[in-house]
Amino acid sequence: MGVRFKGWGIAVPDRIVTNDELSLTLDTSDAWIIERTGIKERRIGGSARTLGALAGQRALDDAGLKPQDIDFLVLATTSPDRMLPATSCLIADDLKMNCPAMDLNAACSGFMYAVRTAQGLLETGNKRILVIGAEHLSRWVDWTDRNMAVLLADGAGATVLEYDPDGNDLLSSSLGADGSAADLLTCEHGGFIQMDGKEVFRRAVRVVVDSAEKAMFDADIKSEDLSLVIPHQANIRIIQAAMKRLGIEMERAVVVLDRYGNTSSASIPLAFDDARKNGRIKVGEYALMTGFGAGMTWASSVVRWS
Ligand code: ACO
Repeated sequence: MGVRFKGWGIAVPDRIVTNDELSLTLDTSDAWIIERTGIKERRIGGSARTLGALAGQRALDDAGLKPQDIDFLVLATTSPDRMLPATSCLIADDLKMNCPAMDLNAACSGFMYAVRTAQGLLETGNKRILVIGAEHLSRWVDWTDRNMAVLLADGAGATVLEYDPDGNDLLSSSLGADGSAADLLTCEHGGFIQMDGKEVFRRAVRVVVDSAEKAMFDADIKSEDLSLVIPHQANIRIIQAAMKRLGIEMERAVVVLDRYGNTSSASIPLAFDDARKNGRIKVGEYALMTGFGAGMTWASSVVRWS
């Protein structure tokens, strides 16, 4: 059966926080952050609810749909507004939707997990699913901790997935999780996000490459067939290392982390929307979307742009 991407939308806070601004209160520098991460600035503000609702509305507008046309809302988020209820219910209320709604937490792999979940929901009779990745990570950052404060940011991205018996845009998905690595990247109730950056870095490259190769194999696609790679936007050096091991030149990777930082489950739709708006993908071309995150989790999909 077929799944079509029908529309895309993003939302980021207005407030831009530059590396120089962070250097005023942290023992860090613009040069260090750019060299070690590739990040130049990030957006801070809003909440998973407000950013997610705006991105969701924009995806609906882009698809020419009304909230009532949607059968199911899946929100990928690591930073919900509340413990209860699910932030997806709050967004559904904001958008005046009356369909089932649920949150999904797979950290930075969340958007790709949500896309795969939506595909399953379409296979069981739903017609259209609104998938949103929305994060308010700044809420869970200790702003005196230079290790995390320079990396994480806020934002949201969304797409509508529609059942289509005559065609298919989502060619394969390779997902995984390894809970034995849980303590490498964690946030306790009421605490702040903490990370063993070096170990996350090392494992991230491995799981991205393995899952990307599996997704390409399952889609019967070779790396040279890909027009674009849309990686999770955590660190430019992770992207460079993964691209090198996949044998794909960096020019085919979409990079927006310089402007947005690491927005977890929002980062892949933010990057894809940027590529789309800049005409970097044409009808019929293939793209690889690939993410990794706390859990650890990982997820890669090959999509065809129609
Ligand atoms: N400014 C200046 N110095 C810093 C900063 C900073 N912001 N942060 C750390 N340092 C220092 C360290 O204290 C260390 O100093 P020392 O040598 O005196 O001990 C030195 O810089 C080198 O630190 P490293 O940790 O070795 O730096 P590294 O090159 O590994 O980069 C980084 C750190 C950017 C965190 C990198 O390891 C990384 O990107 N890891 C993966 C991050 C990631 O992908 N996270 C995933 C998802 S996030 C999520 O799921 C919500």
